[in-house]
Amino acid sequence: MPFYNYYRVIRVRRRIFQSLIVLFVLGNAVHIGLSFIGANNRQRKSLSLNDVEYDPVLPYRYPEEVDIRIVVITFNRASSLEKLLESLDKLELDGDTGYLEIWIDRKDDGSGDGKPGGRINLDTLKVARTFSWSRGRTRVHVHKKNVGICGQWLDTWRPRAGTRELALLLEDDVIVSPFAYRWLKAVHRKYGFRSDVAGYTLQSEQVNQANGSGALVRPKDQVAFLYKLIGSWGFAPHPGSWLAFQDWYHRVRRQGRFRPYVARASLITKWYRMFEAKQLQETMWTMWHVYYSDKYDLFTVYNNIQAVTNSADILLSVNRMEPGLHFQRKRSDSSEKLLRVWSPDYVKFPDSLLAYDFDGSLATKHSA
Ligand SMILES: *[C@@H]1O[C@H](CO)[C@@H](O)[C@H](O)[C@H]1NC(C)=O
Repeated sequence: MPFYNYYRVIRVRRRIFQSLIVLFVLGNAVHIGLSFIGANNRQRKSLSLNDVEYDPVLPYRYPEEVDIRIVVITFNRASSLEKLLESLDKLELDGDTGYLEIWIDRKDDGSGDGKPGGRINLDTLKVARTFSWSRGRTRVHVHKKNVGICGQWLDTWRPRAGTRELALLLEDDVIVSPFAYRWLKAVHRKYGFRSDVAGYTLQSEQVNQANGSGALVRPKDQVAFLYKLIGSWGFAPHPGSWLAFQDWYHRVRRQGRFRPYVARASLITKWYRMFEAKQLQETMWTMWHVYYSDKYDLFTVYNNIQAVTNSADILLSVNRMEPGLHFQRKRSDSSEKLLRVWSPDYVKFPDSLLAYDFDGSLATKHSA
């Protein structure tokens, strides 16, 4: 090797060596920096476990698919939200995958200009951020602007066509039994193929005839039944039906002055009209579901566990009757009656179900 060449090789080697030193020093600095940021993150994490997403695009599509998505909708009831989350912490998933999504609405700033804004209740946000769900991951979403109860229900779970995912939508004044999902999974497996199922409700208290004639008279020996009226104290929409309902809802709401009155659901319609007189009709999203179920002949599946047990503690969900949109004062509730002991009898579903119309009469023979 000629001398000059040999020298160049040395120079090149030296340059490589210098670069390596620079890289090493830089690398360490980056490493030290990272661990510093990491420590900061860990510190922050003990204060806030969950990421918060602001200004989500509605209707919301989630990036991943899970077995059960728990969608909690809340606004300004921090301690009530806490009680719901505590009950969800005991939810039995039987090895399935779950995601908890907490949706926080903003105060209506009254400007009516449709621009982003409106105050967030910080206590509620704090409860959501710091809750660590034992059953899966948690996401917190803060609406861009006030969407009200209609937006909270209609736009926070946009299922994919043909999805296997179920979602359970819960207002923050509801608590659930540890076996709520076990029941939901079983009932969807049994009746999910039917084209007349709007969804499944956990509710079994205050199930009344929608024409104002008192409590719905239920089957004596069947563990589930169909009812035209939605039960919103823990509702899991049928994914296919929900997709169609969302499309229909957004279409008619864009048209403006459409009124969802249903003659056979006379009491429900009367309430809605009373709300309209006070310009509070946007607090009653269920009216749209009532209209849609009437128009397309859809039913909600209810549990009727009481028909096969002597126990009174058989509720899959309880409305804690917190003061807020639906009740003015705190009322006593049935928290103690949540179902805490499981039996396979509760999901021995019959092949054909009795189906009740809005007025509590048996709907004409109903098959799939
Ligand atoms: C509700 O409907 C049932 C069944 O058709 C009927 O017997 C009852 O009288 C109705 N109640 C009212 C208040 O209209």
